[in-house]
Amino acid sequence: MQSTGPTTLNASEQLHVAAAAAAAPSVFNTQPWTFTFTGRGLEVRTDPDDASMPTASAARDVRLSCGAAVFNARTALARLGLASRVSVLPVAGDPLLVARVDVTGDAPDPALDELYRWVGSRRTNRYPFRPERIPAEVLALLHDAARREGATLRLLDGEPEYQRMLTSIRRATWTEDESVRDDRDARLSPGTGQPAIPAGNLGPVPRREFPDDPPVRDMAEGLGIPGRGSAAFEPRPELAVLETAHDDPRSWVTAGQALQRLLLEATGHGIAASFANQPLEDDGLRPEVSGGAAHYGCPQMVLRMGYATAQPPASPRRPLSEVVRTVRG
Ligand SMILES: Cc1cc2nc3c(=O)[nH]c(=O)nc-3n(C[C@H](O)[C@H](O)[C@H](O)COP(=O)(O)O)c2cc1C
Repeated sequence: MQSTGPTTLNASEQLHVAAAAAAAPSVFNTQPWTFTFTGRGLEVRTDPDDASMPTASAARDVRLSCGAAVFNARTALARLGLASRVSVLPVAGDPLLVARVDVTGDAPDPALDELYRWVGSRRTNRYPFRPERIPAEVLALLHDAARREGATLRLLDGEPEYQRMLTSIRRATWTEDESVRDDRDARLSPGTGQPAIPAGNLGPVPRREFPDDPPVRDMAEGLGIPGRGSAAFEPRPELAVLETAHDDPRSWVTAGQALQRLLLEATGHGIAASFANQPLEDDGLRPEVSGGAAHYGCPQMVLRMGYATAQPPASPRRPLSEVVRTVRG
């Protein structure tokens, strides 16, 4: 049965939902979101103050990050025993609105409640992974998690595809625009206040022990950040591309929800992930990631997955008082 009346979350329920939403991954840890609680549920908006990046994918990445926050909010509502419905519709006069998450009177989805368990322990893991392969049945669960949210996780299990992706990642690293590099360096350098991603989350500097760089993205390459050390990385992690059927703002929110669903599912199965999105940040290289095949979708994230050798600490988040705009008890 579906309720018709408004559902008001009390202040502690609002904080529970906002804390889960804010634990989502976000591009460069920008946390480009605000959460407004209403009598119907919550509204997620982009926070333009935090969204100014020179990459070609900036608008995509901001919506994608907000989509991941929306998914976490859904799991937190399910934990409260509440079902929710997401609308991603442009609203005239409200250009920052990304999505509405309305509480309904339906029974909550137990799968979302179960996934809430992993919200606090999910991390972007930039440490080396163990060389074991992920079993096919676990990869199938991750594929299914993305599918349930309307996206596709394309596993790069064929040798030509895998090699093509490695080439794109390396080319993106070599040809990175100076303004993009400078922006990243400014976000990650110590001495400019709190860096967006602390040393403990950057992982060690990848050591070149193979003819080519390992397919891990060193976010702070060349910055000489103290305390990182260096390490050999696994030569062949599982690589996958998260794709959507279309490439528009609504699809970016879909991709964010799918990303978070599969990351929480992965965390529950002991699988760690980091990202190698460099080729997606350059409009010239993005088509290479779509594999050059018409039946592939629009690439939104490049994932590296495996079994962790270390668990990074939780990366910092803005105080909730900065991101929760209205709390109506
Ligand atoms: C759209 C998007 C793009 C990202 N791109 C990368 C990337 O290319 N490389 C990387 O190591 N992390 C990437 N991240 C991960 C963020 O840096 C990470 O979520 C953030 O620092 C917060 O850390 P946490 O995920 O451990 O909470 C990306 C995250 C999002 C949502």
